[in-house]
Amino acid sequence: MALLDKHKFVERNATLLLVGSLFVVSIGGIVEIVPLFYLENTIEKVEGMRPYSPLELAGRNIYIREGCYTCHSQMIRPFRDEVERYGHYSLAAESMYDHPFQWGSKRTGPDLARVGDRYSNEWHVQHLIEPRSVVPESVMPSYSFLKDTPLQVTNVAMELSANRAVGVPYTDEMLENAAADLKAQADPNADTSGISERYPKAKIGDFDGNAAELTEMDALVAYLQMLGTLVDFSTYDATAGYR
Ligand code: HEC
Repeated sequence: MALLDKHKFVERNATLLLVGSLFVVSIGGIVEIVPLFYLENTIEKVEGMRPYSPLELAGRNIYIREGCYTCHSQMIRPFRDEVERYGHYSLAAESMYDHPFQWGSKRTGPDLARVGDRYSNEWHVQHLIEPRSVVPESVMPSYSFLKDTPLQVTNVAMELSANRAVGVPYTDEMLENAAADLKAQADPNADTSGISERYPKAKIGDFDGNAAELTEMDALVAYLQMLGTLVDFSTYDATAGYR
């Protein structure tokens, strides 16, 4: 059979053509998908990543509830202009405990992947209450109600254990102390040695400037202040994964 005839034969036999097409497509699929099952290869090794503290996690939930991701990404791309503006490009490891991740693709506002430590708590509170009071040309909406809304988390330990179910390494000790840790992180008078041990580098303090009440503002600012601050880049070797 001449080559052309073979081709005709395959093209006219619908079943054969279908099986053949699936075979070819699946090669591409296997090459792309199979490596992802070996997550150790896809997520680089870094030092410093830990699960979110209960207060940070509550803040993250507010961030998602309020749709902050519709205007803000959390993904610094490895381009010079981005790295100079925002800091070291984002690593996969930095969002390995995010369910769901907040990379995003819409930047009406700046990327927030490393906004932690960039401003004071007071700045964040003022900015969230009335963005135009600190950035006159801002188009960001006001979130002043967060300061007047008590933080309500019905079952803190359940939040953590739900994350544990999808692979975040929360320990039994973290679950047991979850409710107490949630309150203590925003209370300057509390004994916070336990939190610092369980969640290294966790920022502790009265985030919203109102020590009498634990508000949604406390949680959101605690979350913003830790974004991008966990990985220790002095020990990170970008080439290690490719040796
Ligand atoms: C409609 C789009 C929009 C939404 C929704 C929005 N922002 Fe913004 N955000 C902006 C813009 C624009 C800026 C830049 C001007 C400014 O600083 O206010 C900004 C700036 C910021 C900054 C300062 C970043 C920096 O590096 O200077 C933070 C922090 C921030 N937003 C947090 C939030 C949080 C938290 C939410 C959700 C509660 C939110 N934003 C919702 C548009 C938005």
